[in-house]
Amino acid sequence: MYKAKKEIIKRLVQVDLIIEILDARIPFSSENPMLATLRGDKRCIKVLNKIDLADADATARWQAYLENNSTIKTVALNSKHKNSAAALVAACKNLLPGKANSIRGIQTLITGIPNVGKSTLINLLAGRSIAKTGNEPAITKLQQRVDLHNGIVLFDTPGVLWPNVENRNSGFRLAATGAIKDTALEFEDIGLFLIDYLSVNYKRELVARYQLPELSGSAVEILQAIGRYRGCLVRGGEIDWQRAAKILVDDFRSGALGKITLESPDIMQSELAELEIIRAEKSAKIAARSVQRKRSKRS
Ligand code: G4P
Repeated sequence: MYKAKKEIIKRLVQVDLIIEILDARIPFSSENPMLATLRGDKRCIKVLNKIDLADADATARWQAYLENNSTIKTVALNSKHKNSAAALVAACKNLLPGKANSIRGIQTLITGIPNVGKSTLINLLAGRSIAKTGNEPAITKLQQRVDLHNGIVLFDTPGVLWPNVENRNSGFRLAATGAIKDTALEFEDIGLFLIDYLSVNYKRELVARYQLPELSGSAVEILQAIGRYRGCLVRGGEIDWQRAAKILVDDFRSGALGKITLESPDIMQSELAELEIIRAEKSAKIAARSVQRKRSKRS
């Protein structure tokens, strides 16, 4: 991680533009908090990728919110779609008019947390398979320079930068989308987190997918109903919680549940405010302990 940070700092000085890839279902949690500080005022295109899986209204709200910052432009796309490359190339050229025709071209740093679709997007932009794709997060890839031969040069960064996991809810969202390894959290916990959110924000989709009679019960009861409906039973008629939760998570990941976005700018603001309080409490605790230690040493 330290090495990756050093590489980014070195490269940032040289590039004209940053292309930061976000997962459109979690634009806040898939953002790299480290990059936000390192970037300063360097211009940035935030790509909201995987829009085929995200709620279109929520994506539009995120784009409007992110573009409130004058150094940021957004492009929402599906990297698996052949025609998506043109929109991103046009956005780069619009942001730096004239630069694409210069000898150097537009030098860009392309970055994104693991599994956000960075390799798929690079391959799409390059028109050939040069970056390895796959569903295993945190595969370290070599930094490489890719000349797109259209006035744009990409510098790929290793997909190892730490995602936004200080916020507990972000951890669940990253796990739900597959951005962090499936072994990092229990499927049941991810499933219950999803149910809590979906039963408020995407009730219709949840009810329709699992033929739920109503949604008045707790998250555990809803997971139980999903398990029964999908035949996730073990001996004695008990629910196989892990299997039921995995079905729900897989249905979310594949889009079978519908086009769903797990966070909004409002949710982000309130979670950031909560984080500030937690951080302040932590540092107050540390300060109090240190005073206590010093006093006990003196006595
Ligand atoms: P990374 O380099 O950021 O780690 O991600 P990568 O491109 O390897 O993509 C991770 C997974 O996300 C891949 O699926 C890829 O196909 C999928 N993906 C990338 N962009 C999009 C998109 O816009 N929409 C959708 N629906 N999926 C996208 P996989 O099943 O893990 O691998 P594969 O079998 O497709 O190769």
